[in-house]
Parts: sequence; C-alpha cells; structure tokens
Amino acid sequence: MGFKQTDIRGIDVSAVKLINDDWALVTSSFGGKTNTMTVSWGGLGELWGRDMAFLFIRPQRYTRELLDESEWLSVSFFGGDYKKELMFCGRTSGRDVDKFAETGLSLTELDGVPCVEQAQVNLICKKIAVQDIDPKGFLDETIQKEYPADDYHRVYVAQIIKTYVKE
Ligand SMILES: Cc1cc2nc3c(=O)[nH]c(=O)nc-3n(C[C@H](O)[C@H](O)[C@H](O)COP(=O)(O)O)c2cc1C
Repeated sequence: MGFKQTDIRGIDVSAVKLINDDWALVTSSFGGKTNTMTVSWGGLGELWGRDMAFLFIRPQRYTRELLDESEWLSVSFFGGDYKKELMFCGRTSGRDVDKFAETGLSLTELDGVPCVEQAQVNLICKKIAVQDIDPKGFLDETIQKEYPADDYHRVYVAQIIKTYVKE
C-alpha cells in the first residue's frame, strides 16, 4: 500500500488524540544512520504563518543526535494501532537496538525523508527552529517534577512540508 499526498487540514482528528493519546514516531536520519522514537508530548498548529509540528525531545535521546544534524524529519501517526511497537520504540534506544528489525515496523521514504510504512499519516517536516526549555520560565512550580535530572526538553519547530495518508 502506498501513500497519497493531502493537506494537513484533511486530517480531521484532534491533534491531542493524534499525539497524546495515540502516540507518534519521530524518525530522523543522518550520516547513514536512521532512528525512530515514540513521542506523546507535542503539538500541531501554526507558527510564523506556517503549518507546524512541535516536538519536545530530551537531551539523552539518540534520536536527538540525529535530529540536531538533520534538516528533515518525519512524524508518523498510527491512529491508536501499533501501541506495542510504539511502546518498544519508546523504551529502547537506537544506540542499542535496530527498532525496525525488532518491531517489524518498516522504514520507507517519502520525498527522500525516512518515515514509517505502517503509519496512517506521515508528515514530512523541515526543522526550522530549535529552542531549549529554560526552567526560569516555569510559572507553575510543579512542572519541575517532570525533570528530576534537569533534562529539559529541546523544542523542535518543524514546518509541515507535506502530509501523506495511507491509500
Ligand atoms: C508513550 C511514550 C511517549 C514518549 N514521549 C516522549 C517525548 O515526547 N519526548 C521525549 O523526549 N521522549 C519521549 N518518550 C521517551 C522516548 O521515546 C524513549 O526514551 C526512547 O527510548 C528514545 O529512543 P532513542 O534513544 O532511540 O532516541 C516517550 C516514550 C513513550 C513510551
């Protein structure tokens, strides 16, 4: 089965459900290495007049090493399916395992950007800004409990260049 291009507005599912409830995979590639990791924090919306995905990635993630080197990334949505596989991709590191080989998920490419064959929706995104979370900005002091290791997320602002849905 292939993918057909659509507009992000054609995805009429709440972004909260897509990301927070159903989870997503963020896939990135650099220097011949490709890796994917599960995210459930983040958002979809608009910034600077463009359609965007907002991703929050902690410093210790292997994916972040690749994201920091690469201009392109993909965000894959599964509509609540593949939770077992997504849990695996969120519990193991690509430093130690080949997540595709271990889960049976398959890597494919759309517009030369690696993404996931089994996804219902693949967003092809271009990283256009990054910003590290500064705890000085926390107005609610209870947020700090999310960072027992002071491992504040880096925010990736990724412009949605193309949206593909499974045919
Ligand atoms: C459901 C779920 C959601 C997650 N969401 C995020 C997230 O939004 N940001 C983040 O930095 N880590 C998140 N993680 C943790 C990473 O997916 C996990 O540390 C992963 O093993 C990193 O893989 P890597 O080292 O190959 O990059 C999540 C894990 C799970 C299971």
